[in-house]
Amino acid sequence: MKRTLLRGGISILPSGRAYTNLLLEDGKIVSTDASYETAADEIIDCDSHIILPGAIDDQVHFREPGLTHKEDLATASRACAAGGVTSFLEMPNTKPSAITIDLLEAKYTIAATKSIVNFGFYMGATCSNLDQLKLADNVPGIKIFLGSSTGDLLVDEQAALERIFAETKLPICAHCEDETTVRENQQRFGPNLKLSDHSRIRDHKAAVIATKRAFELAKRHRHRFHLLHTSTADELPLLEDASPYITAEVCPHHLYFSIDDYERLGSLIQMNPSIKTVRDNEALWAALLAGTIQVVATDHAPHTLEEKNAAYPASPSGLPAVENYLALLCDEANRGRCTWEQIASWTSDAPARVWGLVGKGRIAVGYDADLAIINPIRAKEIRNELQFTKSKWSPWNGVTLTGWPVRTIVNGQTVYIDDCESDQGKIISTQPQRRLRCDHHRGGFWATKDGIGL
Ligand code: DOR
Repeated sequence: MKRTLLRGGISILPSGRAYTNLLLEDGKIVSTDASYETAADEIIDCDSHIILPGAIDDQVHFREPGLTHKEDLATASRACAAGGVTSFLEMPNTKPSAITIDLLEAKYTIAATKSIVNFGFYMGATCSNLDQLKLADNVPGIKIFLGSSTGDLLVDEQAALERIFAETKLPICAHCEDETTVRENQQRFGPNLKLSDHSRIRDHKAAVIATKRAFELAKRHRHRFHLLHTSTADELPLLEDASPYITAEVCPHHLYFSIDDYERLGSLIQMNPSIKTVRDNEALWAALLAGTIQVVATDHAPHTLEEKNAAYPASPSGLPAVENYLALLCDEANRGRCTWEQIASWTSDAPARVWGLVGKGRIAVGYDADLAIINPIRAKEIRNELQFTKSKWSPWNGVTLTGWPVRTIVNGQTVYIDDCESDQGKIISTQPQRRLRCDHHRGGFWATKDGIGL
């Protein structure tokens, strides 16, 4: 039995911040008592540090199988570890797409040999795989592309959507950009498209129509629904009016980048849903701070720089973010824009509850010892060459942030330690970690607008 004592430090507990010790035993948190000192196998001095529950990124594209020239589960999970992300939920648009139980379980099998953080995989919906969707078990949920993006997944037929919402049990999440609107816009802007047209093709209207459609289905069928990557101010009134069945997420690129940045960053910020305006950035921040949006996730979607450099519209949509998103938020906490408690909620507690992740999301006795230890005064520049992602670039290249994960612990085991000398940090353990257990019947869903405890 291995005992680790984290001595001192400010832990962000469910009840708020507390200067305390944490005792970890066999991968679990067994004490959060400040006075508790014990003979431990390992003592980690956490004085002057903030201890967050490890981040749970509930929207990533890690490209394995089939697209491993962009990323794979070994490189991606190292990027997670470096970013304080102790669990990820991965999207089904790999090659082949995860649309059958066998294909889905094959991804779990690969991850069990390669992923150095905890893992879960969504099942992708098609117009004809209802029988498979109904069989899925112990997975976070079902992903629907209401508008097409990278890959060939799309469910646009109303009859198919009705059946999925009526007959499946798992929570559903969706990419909400209306396919018809996007195609009409494409036609309208003609053949000679430029990059900035991306945000005019995938416009506000496309996002609002698809989000309305998904919410209407979720409410009528009383089905748990999570809106992925909210991108517009115009979707927010729909959320304010949403039912307890509905939760929402925002990604850093929709908080930080606007169409004004196309000139500076080009296709590096080409994303689906497209990035929008400064007005949208500000409205999304306000909605997050107000609790209208509950989750921050990355939509980490790496492509090689060579692919990104193709002339639009051949350039693919997507950017990597998993190793920087927690630091982006820590930097905001340092500036006073948000609190450490809000970060713990957005990146860990809320996604754990949305997806029914057993033993995850909190620093509390009995929970798994998944922790991100933050040095709030550590300043570090994001540099392409130091990224762990296989794609080796970041749209935040050159940006210096203050407040970084300096040690990441997964199931009680240190997997990453910061290195001030090289600035890249080191992966300490490459031992594969665990499949996330999902229990959607045990209070794992969002029962009221204010959320519920487990
Ligand atoms: O920009 C995006 N890229 N949006 C998505 O929905 C998919 C992702 C990808 O897989 O490349």
